[in-house]
Amino acid sequence: MTAIQGPSRVAAKAQSRSSSAADWSLTGWRSRPPLQMPVYPDATTLANAEARLRRYPPLVFAGEARKLKTALAKVAAGDAFLLQGGDCAESFADFTANNIRDTFRVLLQMAVVLTYGAGVPVVKLGRMAGQFAKPRSSNVEKVGDVELPSYRGDNVNGIEFTPEARRPDPERMVQAYNQSAATLNLLRAFAQGGYADLHEVNRWNLDFVRNSPASGKYEDLAARLDETLNFMAACGLNSATTPQIAETDFFTSHEALLLPYEEALTRVDSTSGDWYDCSAHMLWIGDRTRQPDGAHVEFLRGVRNPIGFKCGPSLSVEDTLKLIDTLNPSNEAGRIVLIVRMGADNVANKLPPLVRAVERAGKSVVWSCDPMHGNTVTASNGRKTRHFDNILREVKEFFAVHRAEGTHPGGVHFEMTGQEVTECMGGSTDITVENLDERYETLVDPRLNASQALELAFLLAEQLKAERLSVARARPAV
Ligand code: PEP
Ligand code: CO
Repeated sequence: MTAIQGPSRVAAKAQSRSSSAADWSLTGWRSRPPLQMPVYPDATTLANAEARLRRYPPLVFAGEARKLKTALAKVAAGDAFLLQGGDCAESFADFTANNIRDTFRVLLQMAVVLTYGAGVPVVKLGRMAGQFAKPRSSNVEKVGDVELPSYRGDNVNGIEFTPEARRPDPERMVQAYNQSAATLNLLRAFAQGGYADLHEVNRWNLDFVRNSPASGKYEDLAARLDETLNFMAACGLNSATTPQIAETDFFTSHEALLLPYEEALTRVDSTSGDWYDCSAHMLWIGDRTRQPDGAHVEFLRGVRNPIGFKCGPSLSVEDTLKLIDTLNPSNEAGRIVLIVRMGADNVANKLPPLVRAVERAGKSVVWSCDPMHGNTVTASNGRKTRHFDNILREVKEFFAVHRAEGTHPGGVHFEMTGQEVTECMGGSTDITVENLDERYETLVDPRLNASQALELAFLLAEQLKAERLSVARARPAV
């Protein structure tokens, strides 16, 4: 990794009045091993791209990140539920208004169903408007005798298997910034401009249920939800009278993997004097870059956004606690999201020791379940896929662990799209190995399509509702 100059004088001055950790600096991560980051061939083009990004406006405002933190603090306390979802990797080629709208729409549909099931507000967090950089298991990809650098996401290099495309190009960070800015602009318009009207979302859900091959399974919940909304409307609660019906809060997140980009968008908030990574409201650290003394942890401990880290099967209890302490020394509620991705077969064994240790240490965290990344398999035709049943099973096991431990299953994290792709198998449209080639469009990992994502939301909502009622029944009367 080519180093850039230290922080500018302005940033250094701001640092001195910042209440972020005194031993942290914006560029401190650069002295740690740069895991999963590209080696740019040309230092000058890199420095130019970084300099331009440093001058560009922030994509999100620190006050919004604080608002998300407050919402996540409610999740940690058991009074809200988190829905995080979107592309595995956003792409320059698939950047269209329809793609953004469709993913946003499915997330809203899922959120309404989950709100009804969980009986608490649902915090909506897109893997959108910045989710470009990808960690890879190998630095190189080999096809026949040709070996080239691996594809690392559209903000790093191109997916085509040619030496030119695979060369890391810093200009791609600028393109990713511009695409993120335009995506956020549209998301904000959708969220606040009338598109997110609860009655519309309910109508989309009724259409989905009507057309689903498994409509019988979801009809009941959809009908009850519809009845509730009609009742509210009869009481005078409609989009004209009630802003909560007409609009919604929608936040963005991505894996903070490409640190030159994150550093360039990290700014001091003028109201609090604190550092915020203004590339997204929430950032997370991937399972491959969560070393407690690694560059990614070093960077993110100094910004005040909500931060997640992935908890895969190799994460020890000791590292979990070390990461929580390093990233959240003051145990601030809403700061930490533990994104558990153990795999359906591992979660029942691997999660309880983590939950117990975190509870024993008295740490406030959001427990979220990513049932995607531990359930990836290679199908007989060589396609990377995931089976709907394993995804559902992992979430149910995750809920069961929290039920047994008396902790709150705070949320879910999905790789999904608003399109009817054929990347994950199963679901009521029963996608089989033979169907995978029909619409396999992801750049890296297989995503749930719109109907699979919605079905999951319906199934999880039923489960959340049943759990809620059984807890209520078990509570002694007063
Ligand atoms: C991801 O969320 O896209 C990802 C790469 O996950 P993980 O770090 O859990 O493998
Ligand atoms: Co992925």
